[in-house]
Amino acid sequence: MSFARIKPLDAILATAEKKSLTRTLGAVQLTLLGVGAIIGTGIFVLTSEAAQKAGPGMMWSFVIAALVCAVAALCYSEIASMVPVSGSAYTYTYAVMGELLAWMVGWALILEYAVAASAVSVGWSGYFVGLLANAGIELPVALTVGTYAPGGFINLPALVIALLVTMLLMIGTTESARVNAILVAIKVTALSVFVVLTVPMLQGQNFDPMMPNGWFGSERGFGAVGAAASIFFAYVGFDAVSTAAEETKNPQRNVPIGLIGSLGICTVFYVLVAAGAIGTLGAQPITGPAGELLAPGSTPFAERCQSLAAMGSEPLVCSKEALAHVLREIGHPAIGNLIGLAAFLALPSVILIMLFGQTRIFFVMARDGLLPEKLASIHPRWKTPHIVTMITGVAVAFFAAFLPVGKLADISNSGTLFAFFMVALAVMILRRTQPDRPRPFRTPLVWVVAPLAILGTLGLFWNLPFDAKLVLPVWGAIGLVVYFAYGFRMSHVARGLVEIHEDDADAPPMPVPPMPGAHTPGGKDA
Ligand code: ALA
Repeated sequence: MSFARIKPLDAILATAEKKSLTRTLGAVQLTLLGVGAIIGTGIFVLTSEAAQKAGPGMMWSFVIAALVCAVAALCYSEIASMVPVSGSAYTYTYAVMGELLAWMVGWALILEYAVAASAVSVGWSGYFVGLLANAGIELPVALTVGTYAPGGFINLPALVIALLVTMLLMIGTTESARVNAILVAIKVTALSVFVVLTVPMLQGQNFDPMMPNGWFGSERGFGAVGAAASIFFAYVGFDAVSTAAEETKNPQRNVPIGLIGSLGICTVFYVLVAAGAIGTLGAQPITGPAGELLAPGSTPFAERCQSLAAMGSEPLVCSKEALAHVLREIGHPAIGNLIGLAAFLALPSVILIMLFGQTRIFFVMARDGLLPEKLASIHPRWKTPHIVTMITGVAVAFFAAFLPVGKLADISNSGTLFAFFMVALAVMILRRTQPDRPRPFRTPLVWVVAPLAILGTLGLFWNLPFDAKLVLPVWGAIGLVVYFAYGFRMSHVARGLVEIHEDDADAPPMPVPPMPGAHTPGGKDA
């Protein structure tokens, strides 16, 4: 049974150890890597959607989402320091809970990474279009938004940036630590400037009413908790740190510092930026003619924003470039444009990180035999998994071209929350089944923290809008069909091959004898 197909942790670790020569990243670089992957469309764009859902209460949303990520990060830290290899939650699950659940996690990670890449592409497009408009170049509406907005047809800039990043990845571009550090500096400077310009100008009346839609809203997806489920997207990416564990010096110490450090830094920035936007421009939601809630990204919402714009008013909730818009409106148009430029420069690297993560996971799954191995073939000259990169990139570009950013972010969140849930579960199972295995980092109060992570991820998932929530089971059902039609038979573990692939990308598979006996969780390691 596929639950019992477990990748032996010892084999994974033994192979990973051979890589110790290539361990180059320290705590600072790891934190920078995390901040580089985290700060993106969430804060630069989705702040306006969070305002539409929660009003000034969105400050709580940032805090709630950060708390859920913090407990999840503590669980990630334990497992990432124990199993410092590539493949992230997919590999951990393979080693702990078996192939079927690992496949489901890998399948959900497709939602996380690929759909996040689409969301960030759409976010980038909003800033690009805004910068052009401020330079006097108006692109036709039909070419800048999907059909969900009146007059919209296709989001061409989002499509183009997704394809461009895909091409860069295909020819073997990876972001050097130096480029990442520069882009992190640009983003952090942009957010700091925003905070310095807005926070001294806060006006108390802009925080009243603080919670126009309450904690839960009268419809799912609204209120401070509904907004938290969406703004959770702003924190996604810290798990990228765990995927770099294999390249980290002293991962036992540095991975937890990187994960929790990057999350902490971003939380402080996000809460201050939210306060600055609310306190200066105001963040009250707009409603329909009968006072009804309007979901951001919906057609009635877009129509209401268009009619407000015709009257010369653009509230925060309608802006596609929230932070630049706030500064322009409060008398800093030039700096607003510079913030726009910062987003324009830095967001493509978030797309690159997400797409890269996605192709890595596809690649590992294909090398495990769960997807056709052809997908994992390496281009002779570029040395990249070009086929899987191209397929992923085209899908990412397609969704970016036609769906609104908030919807994409919500769908991505549903996959991410599932993966975090599984990691929290895996930590508890491993504590039970393999209590003596060395744990370089131990999640503090694991029997409190891991259940909190489980409750937090479930709670946020439950508060996602209905359609985003529906995507996960539908996607999961498709995943099951694919698994039983293909991976179940072709799986290398099932065929007695255990390959770890932690060596060179095109190293030949390393066959080791099949695991003895029927494998209980923990298998040979127990
Ligand atoms: N956290 C990343 C962003 O907000 C995915 O763009």
